[in-house]
Amino acid sequence: MKAFIYERYGPPETLRMAEVDTPAPDAGEVLVRVLAASVNAADWHVLRGKPLFSRATLGLLRPKHKILGVDIAGQVEAVGSGVTHLQPGDEVYANLLDHGYGGFADYVAVPVGALSLKPAKLSFEEAAAVPMAAGTALQGLRHHGELRPDQQVLINGATGGVGSFAVQLAKASGPEVTAVTSTGNLELVRSLGADHVVDYTTTDFARGGRRYDRILDTVGNRSVADLRRALASGGKAAVTGFTSMRRLLGVSLRGGKDVAQVSAHVTTRDLELLSELIEAGRLRPQIDRRYRFADLPAAIAYLEQGHARAKVVVALTAS
Ligand SMILES: NC(=O)c1ccc[n+]([C@@H]2O[C@H](COP(=O)([O-])OP(=O)(O)OC[C@H]3O[C@@H](n4cnc5c(N)ncnc54)[C@H](OP(=O)(O)O)[C@@H]3O)[C@@H](O)[C@H]2O)c1
Repeated sequence: MKAFIYERYGPPETLRMAEVDTPAPDAGEVLVRVLAASVNAADWHVLRGKPLFSRATLGLLRPKHKILGVDIAGQVEAVGSGVTHLQPGDEVYANLLDHGYGGFADYVAVPVGALSLKPAKLSFEEAAAVPMAAGTALQGLRHHGELRPDQQVLINGATGGVGSFAVQLAKASGPEVTAVTSTGNLELVRSLGADHVVDYTTTDFARGGRRYDRILDTVGNRSVADLRRALASGGKAAVTGFTSMRRLLGVSLRGGKDVAQVSAHVTTRDLELLSELIEAGRLRPQIDRRYRFADLPAAIAYLEQGHARAKVVVALTAS
């Protein structure tokens, strides 16, 4: 099969298309023919082997996993032993973050606990946009308990992959949602359902008059003091984004019950919940750019600039 592989840490050009063996599904896995994938910040972090401490698990000198790709949508090609609820031809989507990546390839073996049936109303490209970003938004928003309609919620980074889902997911629970983005994206966040918008190029949400019961910081560019300043009494913030070691350590060391760093680990249960919201018309992926598989390095380079408008997807075949 064809796959994009990398054998040393580096920029997107480090990736090269190669012929590799098609994997076989182990017990409890299915082999998926990948029809679309989306790119995530995790792909370029892992490609570059940054932050450096992550190489302790990724591979000290060389990457352990040669094929990147967390988010996929496709068709079940074969099932491993013990898998009875899925069969060849089923349309699925999956998150491979905790399962060794491998999505940037014609086929990948996926543990059944990392996938779900794909929402029928989405194309494969749209479905591939969902798992990691929407799963992270979901887990970040509910980290401090379910949202309530009487709450004020702020989403920092509201037009990124995670943020564009977070605005819609927060609105689906009923609270008043304030979205922080840049000037060119104000209309986009309004169209996602935001009640209020803050243009971060002119206004600092931590120094305005409004206070929030919940903050989801998908960017990770604010200090704990800034986040606390913007919280209402008893309010809580979840930080899913990562911009620098200083900020990451700041939240880890100076945060606490009210300001928490959150790592998402998306499961079948989360994907099923997202599918229900999608089928009910309450959640819809926004696609910024579509790339051909052969142009995957360009897709990752674009995302790495940090200003994608929602999701960037890659088509392995027309869907
Ligand atoms: N914790 C986890 O499990 C987890 C999971 C997924 C992702 N992440 C991390 O979360 C971060 C975001 O991921 P993503 O997929 O949403 O990234 P993304 O799609 O690249 O989006 C980045 C967004 O950040 C916005 N932004 C840039 N500077 C900003 C600023 N100063 N203030 C407010 N917004 C700003 C950009 O909006 P403009 O274009 O308007 O500037 C853009 O929409 C990454 O660091 C990623 O590694 C963590």
